[in-house]
Amino acid sequence: MRPPLTGRRWLVIVAALGVMIAASTGLAGCASANDGGVKIALLLPDSKTARYAAFDRPFFEQRIAELGNYDVLYSNADQDAAAQQSQAESALASGAKVLVLDPVDSAAAASIVAAANAQGVPVIAYDRLITGGQLAFYVSFDNEKVGSLQGEALIEKLTKDGARGGILMVNGSPTDNNAAQFKQGALASISGSAFPVLAEFDTPDWSPDKAQEWVAGQITQYDGQIAAVYAANDGIAGGAIAALRAADVSPLPIVTGQDAELAGIQRIVSGDQYMTVFKPIRDEAGLAAEIAVKLVKGQPVTGKTTIGGVPTTLFDPVAVTIDNIMGTVVSGGSYTVAQICTAEYAAACAAAGIR
Ligand code: BGC
Repeated sequence: MRPPLTGRRWLVIVAALGVMIAASTGLAGCASANDGGVKIALLLPDSKTARYAAFDRPFFEQRIAELGNYDVLYSNADQDAAAQQSQAESALASGAKVLVLDPVDSAAAASIVAAANAQGVPVIAYDRLITGGQLAFYVSFDNEKVGSLQGEALIEKLTKDGARGGILMVNGSPTDNNAAQFKQGALASISGSAFPVLAEFDTPDWSPDKAQEWVAGQITQYDGQIAAVYAANDGIAGGAIAALRAADVSPLPIVTGQDAELAGIQRIVSGDQYMTVFKPIRDEAGLAAEIAVKLVKGQPVTGKTTIGGVPTTLFDPVAVTIDNIMGTVVSGGSYTVAQICTAEYAAACAAAGIR
């Protein structure tokens, strides 16, 4: 037998009905007012590099929210190409209408593009090119220029210092198409300079730990001969500098980087790292969001150029040294002076006029 409806049970039922009605009218309102929660997948490659969580994801989600009522299905593959394949498959199974894909493996990701296209879902290659398959768009930076900014800064500084010795090249992941472009851009200045490449390493997964381990081994081998370390990004620079510090190498060689990570900027302030490369990720992520929404709506998309027939836009990177931190990452809003100049860096900041 049903228990009698006491005053309290009535209250619970009425409250529950209220919630249900509010939820259903809310949903109906959204559906008629805009595109109705169409799903767009953002598939990022790497959780060891700070930029993805700090900038790419939030800037992308922010721009998408400004453009209407879309659901961003976010995943990060943590450097695992097989995991990225299954993340893409589950995004497709959940009904994603566009994939924005930053591939762990630029070649293997062609199979993700094929699977998406087979369901009529267009794919935007985000930051790293996908070398195969029919892409709808490619958005990135001029990656060869990133490498040439690194190589030029390195050779100029070594020349200015009258340094002697050679360079350790610690490149990015061998499965990342960008890494080859960074290396090619850097070698344009390094090859033919007075500073030979002593040894080079393609860092699996862009892993700072693996870079550190490799550099530690080279310090033993090239004791006293290392004038500079070409580090492809700030994560690798951090690993290389940790190895140099652990071996008490003094003075520290000139070290490059990329991404203008907060830790990289702080190492530039303290003098451990010579330079990094700032890439305006807000522009990259914002354009990816705009193109994704156009594709959802079936509108045509055009880029500033084409690569292999794919409409493409490449933004410009900027070299950052101690001399232009204020005019780049601070004025551009990446970090405040307070974030950079914590107690540990306060004196170095003051000496460099960062205040
Ligand atoms: C990106 C870099 C990043 C690296 C490691 C590259 O493809 O362009 O900004 O540091 O991957 O994630």
